[in-house]
Amino acid sequence: MAQSITITDNRTGDSVEIPIDNGSVAAGDWRKLLPNVWFYDEALMTTAMTESAITYLDGDAGILRYRGYPIEQLAESSTYLEVAYLLIHGELPTADQYSAWVHDITYHTFIHENVRKRFLEGFHYDAHPMGMLVSAIAALSTFYPESKDIFDADVRQKQIVRLIAKMPTLAAACHRFSVGMPFVYPDNSLSFAENFLSMLFKVAEPRYDADPRLSKALDLLFILHADHEQNCGTTAMRVVGSAHADPYSAAAAAAAALYGPRHGGANEAVIHMLTEIGSTENVPAFVQAVKAGHGRLQGFGHRVYKNYDPRAKIIKRAADDVFAVTGKNPLLDIALKLEEVALSDDYFISRKLYPNVDFYSGLIYQAMGFPIEMFTVLFAIPRMSGWLAHWVELLEQDQKIVRPRQVYTGAEERSYVPVAQRS
Ligand code: CMC
Repeated sequence: MAQSITITDNRTGDSVEIPIDNGSVAAGDWRKLLPNVWFYDEALMTTAMTESAITYLDGDAGILRYRGYPIEQLAESSTYLEVAYLLIHGELPTADQYSAWVHDITYHTFIHENVRKRFLEGFHYDAHPMGMLVSAIAALSTFYPESKDIFDADVRQKQIVRLIAKMPTLAAACHRFSVGMPFVYPDNSLSFAENFLSMLFKVAEPRYDADPRLSKALDLLFILHADHEQNCGTTAMRVVGSAHADPYSAAAAAAAALYGPRHGGANEAVIHMLTEIGSTENVPAFVQAVKAGHGRLQGFGHRVYKNYDPRAKIIKRAADDVFAVTGKNPLLDIALKLEEVALSDDYFISRKLYPNVDFYSGLIYQAMGFPIEMFTVLFAIPRMSGWLAHWVELLEQDQKIVRPRQVYTGAEERSYVPVAQRS
């Protein structure tokens, strides 16, 4: 059987045979055959916008790999900073490369005082921390104007280190502001996750020592959220990056996409949903209501996974370690019941709707003491490394500016009517 497709223009009889390469057909050949005929693909559901060597995802089999390494192995043995290095550089670091990388990240965690005092403190008292974070990431571009020099490899590397390093500091600053607590400066003697927990929860003690089981669990969650190939936020990063914007502006666009409840905002929505359900007895009625079209099961379903999200499996196991320290989240029983009812219901089975990464992560975050508004912020911190890996790849591919076509459905040409003559 030929590994190709043939497209025939029935208006002219001309046809073109296009090879199927790596599961895709290149658009260049049909563009030549069919000038000014657009391939209409709402939400790019069947369009591969780029080649990428970063993350492999097989949604039917429930497989996720970063640079070839199974997510299960990275979750078991790696650290978030090692994974961030892997995503960006393509290989796991040697011991020397790793210690230099950790040193660089650790020593770029401080933010300019004006970012906090003039910018973040200007927000309204009840500002959502994710809104603050999106704006603060964009604002950093004004503090590092050299970041516009995106084709200078050294400048690029500096911004990568800054963005990964400053995410926990910005996130913690947003949280402290929203709860009326003073800002806590980074502590370079702590690991990435420990430092973040210190900046969030330190009160009057000279040094905040997080429970190692909690900092390990947080680091694990960071690994699981670091990248997920061409999701909505990463696509936003690539779209804005293709215009050659500086990385802060592109990353702010990516974070804005992540904020949406269909994307990274779902972990927040899950807790609201479980709270609204209230008890395990109410689960069947809730599921019936969803099936009848009243809302969606938050944390369920995925554009790509048509199987159990492998990240959700790992998180579900990690939840027990966290609850051993914090005590069980009372919403866990409702979540387990909801999963059980949904996974035995034909509506969800036939549509291949399984728990995704957001279904259990919120329960862990809540048990660890994070306010619900911080959940998407927690997703954004590690996703920064994935966004940046895609940004570097995009620039190295010298990809054209993203500029899709549309199918125009508006009015034909008509003449302007002065307001007094309009009925
Ligand atoms: N609950 C109930 N029904 C659902 C759900 C759900 N969570 N998700 C999809 N469906 C149904 C949907 O109604 C449709 O049914 P029908 O064919 O009868 O019209 C069918 O399944 C296909 O849904 P779709 O909306 O066409 O699927 P999509 O690929 O466009 O949407 C999704 C993917 C993630 C936006 C969607 O599943 C959803 O809204 N899930 C809840 C929000 C959520 O958990 N988002 C986090 C995603 S994972 C983290 C991330 O990547 O950010």
